[in-house]
Amino acid sequence: MTKEDKISIGLLGAGTVGSGVLELLQKNAASIAQKVGKQIQVTRIFVRDLEKYAHLAESYALTTDIDDIVNDPQIDIVVELMGGEEPAKTLMLYALAHKKHVVTANKDVVAKYGRELFDAAEANQVDFLFEASVGGGIPIIRPLKQCLAANEIQEVMGIVNGTTNYMLTRMSQQGMDFADALAEAQAKGYAEADPTADVGGLDAARKIAILSSLAFNSRMPLDKVHVEGIEKISKHDIEYAREFGYCIKLLAIAKREGENGINARVHPVFLPVSHPLAAVNDVFNAIFVRGDAIGEAMFYGRGAGKLPTASAVCADIIDVARDIVHKGASRILCTCFEETKICPIEKVANPYYIRLLVADQPGVLSAIAAAFGAQQVSLRTVVQKQRVGEYAELVLITYAVPDSHMRMAMQTLAVLPAVAEVSNIIRVEDPHFS
Ligand code: NAP
Ligand code: HSE
Repeated sequence: MTKEDKISIGLLGAGTVGSGVLELLQKNAASIAQKVGKQIQVTRIFVRDLEKYAHLAESYALTTDIDDIVNDPQIDIVVELMGGEEPAKTLMLYALAHKKHVVTANKDVVAKYGRELFDAAEANQVDFLFEASVGGGIPIIRPLKQCLAANEIQEVMGIVNGTTNYMLTRMSQQGMDFADALAEAQAKGYAEADPTADVGGLDAARKIAILSSLAFNSRMPLDKVHVEGIEKISKHDIEYAREFGYCIKLLAIAKREGENGINARVHPVFLPVSHPLAAVNDVFNAIFVRGDAIGEAMFYGRGAGKLPTASAVCADIIDVARDIVHKGASRILCTCFEETKICPIEKVANPYYIRLLVADQPGVLSAIAAAFGAQQVSLRTVVQKQRVGEYAELVLITYAVPDSHMRMAMQTLAVLPAVAEVSNIIRVEDPHFS
């Protein structure tokens, strides 16, 4: 078969997603060829251990030398599915410099070095696509860049980490504890090799940095995203949430905060059970977008896993292939044409849920109320249900208050003699009280 008959791919990494891409391109080869007008084939695979991947050697040329791929004139597209920052970033830049189109699922690199990669793609007039980097199999990058391009976006909010959503679902529905829920998510292949990025919120932060940059056409640096994980969420918090009509979700949120600019953050929230995102369970992800023309739209599906993620990677491959067939490329590269102010978390207002252990004696409640009152924090609900050892467990829900006020109130509270422990503090994302 000549180069004219087919489009060839050099694949970097044949792990979970890479093997999914090989499987999907084979399984649906005929219909994909019809859609593109040419056959698409992976011809070479870059690995670091030839023996480990010997089972692929019958069908593909394996190599440990990237030059075998970037210098192969038959190869049009390099698909990077190794993950991590390096050597992935350097290899993608190397491929772009050799005028290969690049497709990746790598949010670590896109969130941090997106501009550099877009610039390299533009300079070399090739495509750089990354649909699978956010939301696994859910189409969200292309909708933001293309389908919703006529909108002014006000808000992007979503569940973008499958591991933590799976864990919270298991903790909530089966009463599992944190460690067992994490072990199960790892066994199912949802978690990253190092799950601290999942449970600590960094994986979701990378994704919201990418979504915020696309939605608001203004780069959101990863280090400006406020990040909190789910490590401190306990069964108690989940039970209290349920009692008050909420569930606990790890949300990634990017919003215009008026004149303060754009804020991006990841943290657990109390979410009303009636909210559409509250129904998103297990490994499923969903991204909720509000635009001035479309109103509200929600994108829902499998946010991780071999074939769902391969579905998004293959969609990018097909898009590039169509560009090759129709002799177009780098049509939609960097869309960050603005430099909007970034709003720090201190200026963002939310209601809060606070769980405390306090001395069970007269005057304690009024001292706590006074500490909040001094920072203009108004209390909506106060509940005292159980004793924990010699202390009483006190649960409070506030009205909306800026983060900076809440921090000051908590500092005052923490040194009150009657307060033994601030067990947890979680934001409430409730449209009725924001
Ligand atoms: P994975 O199962 O760990 O596979 C990674 C592959 O890359 C393995 O074949 C690994 O080879 C290879 N690799 C890593 N470093 C290499 C190096 N320096 N040189 C050569 N080969 C190297 O990872 P994955 O889950 O498929 O994830 C791939 C990418 O997709 C990541 O960017 C990830 O964030 C993204 N993603 C994954 C999912 C998911 O559900 N898994 C969902 C969305 C996005 P070895 O076997 O030798 O280590
Ligand atoms: N570890 C990620 C998750 C995989 O749990 O969502 C997809 O990026």
